[in-house]
Amino acid sequence: MIGIIDVHCHILPGVDDGADTVEEALSMLKREYEDGVRAVILTPHYRRKMFEADWTVLEESYKRLCGALDGKNWKMPLYLGCEYHVDTDMTEALKRKERPGMAGSRYVLTEFSGKAEIAYIRERAGALLSCGFRPVIAHVERCDCLRKKMEQIEELVEMGVRIQVNAGSITGEEGFGTARFCRKLMKRDLLHFVGTDAHGIRRRTPNMGACAAYLEKKMGTEYARKILCENPEKILKEGANEK
Ligand SMILES: [Fe+2]
Repeated sequence: MIGIIDVHCHILPGVDDGADTVEEALSMLKREYEDGVRAVILTPHYRRKMFEADWTVLEESYKRLCGALDGKNWKMPLYLGCEYHVDTDMTEALKRKERPGMAGSRYVLTEFSGKAEIAYIRERAGALLSCGFRPVIAHVERCDCLRKKMEQIEELVEMGVRIQVNAGSITGEEGFGTARFCRKLMKRDLLHFVGTDAHGIRRRTPNMGACAAYLEKKMGTEYARKILCENPEKILKEGANEK
């Protein structure tokens, strides 16, 4: 499938535990292109006391990567975002624009720890929504409490939360139970986005092609296009309008 948009990856080099160098980032982007990806939202980690790269560092790395990509016949647009590990200050930090939403939109890729409790997830998601942001829960398959109770995901989606899973989780790279959970999400129409969450060219590599083929086969081309292309396009459109 051509025209996929990867909404979650750590390709921006030298800013978190993802790509180390521009060369590695380029190899990852080339792989993405071969997999049918035609736009990428770069989502470096933001996590207090762990990943706190300065905004200017992110921008510099972004410019360098865009420059290096220019001229390649497999180039594609890159957008900045971040994977925000929840904290108590996040709504304020986002309002102050210390960290970007996904591609400059109001969508915020929001990471909870696997052991986060439902009350905390609801509270943080509610805080974002009430400030006009749209939380996208990153790799929801890792949240124990949500995984156990599909109804809780349903409630969050009704509140306005959006749901992302990793490409490898859908195809079974993370085990049978995780793939089955992803399948359930899709059947109940509770999935909105898929990201590679790629971290490198040797480990946790871009893997969108296999996922697209799997989705087309199991869920049909129309569904695969909606999740992999059309829903992410809404983020890009909103980001463009915010500028
Ligand atoms: Fe990630």
